Amino acid sequence: MKRIGVLTSGGDSPGMNAAVRAVVRKAIYHDVEIYGVYNGYAGLIAGNIEKLELGSVGDIIHRGGTKLFTARCPEFKTVEGREKGIEQLKKFGIEGLVVIGGDGSYMGAKKLTEHGFPCVGVPGTIDNDIPGTDFTIGFDTALNTVIDAIDKIRDTATSHERTYVIEVMGRHAGDIALWAGLAGGAETILIPEADYDMEDIIDRLKRGHERGKKHSIIIIAEGVGSGVEFGEKIEKETQFETRVSVLGHIQRGGSPTAADRVLASRLGAYAVELLLEGRGGRCVGIQNNKLVDHDILEILDTEHTVDQSMYRLSKELSI
Ligand code: F6P
Repeated sequence: MKRIGVLTSGGDSPGMNAAVRAVVRKAIYHDVEIYGVYNGYAGLIAGNIEKLELGSVGDIIHRGGTKLFTARCPEFKTVEGREKGIEQLKKFGIEGLVVIGGDGSYMGAKKLTEHGFPCVGVPGTIDNDIPGTDFTIGFDTALNTVIDAIDKIRDTATSHERTYVIEVMGRHAGDIALWAGLAGGAETILIPEADYDMEDIIDRLKRGHERGKKHSIIIIAEGVGSGVEFGEKIEKETQFETRVSVLGHIQRGGSPTAADRVLASRLGAYAVELLLEGRGGRCVGIQNNKLVDHDILEILDTEHTVDQSMYRLSKELSI
């Protein structure tokens, strides 16, 4: 393989730039030409493609967002859309593609692979919901952003003796809520992967209040439902003054943590290695701190799961 491409797609995540940098530098290290596809699959269809040099990825390892920009592209879900994309890849002489993104992006890479075009998926999303890897690029940074918010909210919650419901992102997955809730000492964590008992939550809040607790923090994953509605129920049932914070897109921005930069560098470089070994149709990940790769045609059939033991622990520690 003498010429490969790289794109970022779907929701951006901190560390995507570090991954792009690793792909570009690793390719050039092996004397392979590297082309950046701008705006994800939409840019692929439009032929928004340009050759990248070593300097093209200078000064980006510490930046959030993605230098290649990103998009969600319904047209790429159609056969016609994908054929247009493949035409562009051929036009530029690109023989393999690294796709950095979440499960929608993996789906695109899977379809390209089925069309016979070699792709390697790199997991980039704050949601940590991609099967085949313990961690996705951006999760650690998002987690630290949430922790920072929880710590700050805790200060004002204590001063005013309030209950706070904090809604976090994660789409259908509860990883951000669970990890942030555990690290932030939340009293209650609600995730889509576990049922909750409203009476039990109310009892806990009341017991805490009787013990003289000055505040309560409840973390709700967006996949469970609306934090605002949940907050209203809590206030009605407990009569405790309750406020809701929906953290939103601040969770997607910011300078990536060291952990995300290292993960992105390792995964990006590994994706290039696979393409150069002629092993397209894979997706990369990290499991037990070892780089791994899986068949991209099969990985999306595997379900992502949260660590239930961590969920149980969070309950034990917040009695
Ligand atoms: O997948 C990342 C994510 O931030 C999810 O956590 C969230 O549900 C979604 O993207 C929001 O998407 P958008 O930025 O398109 O509103």
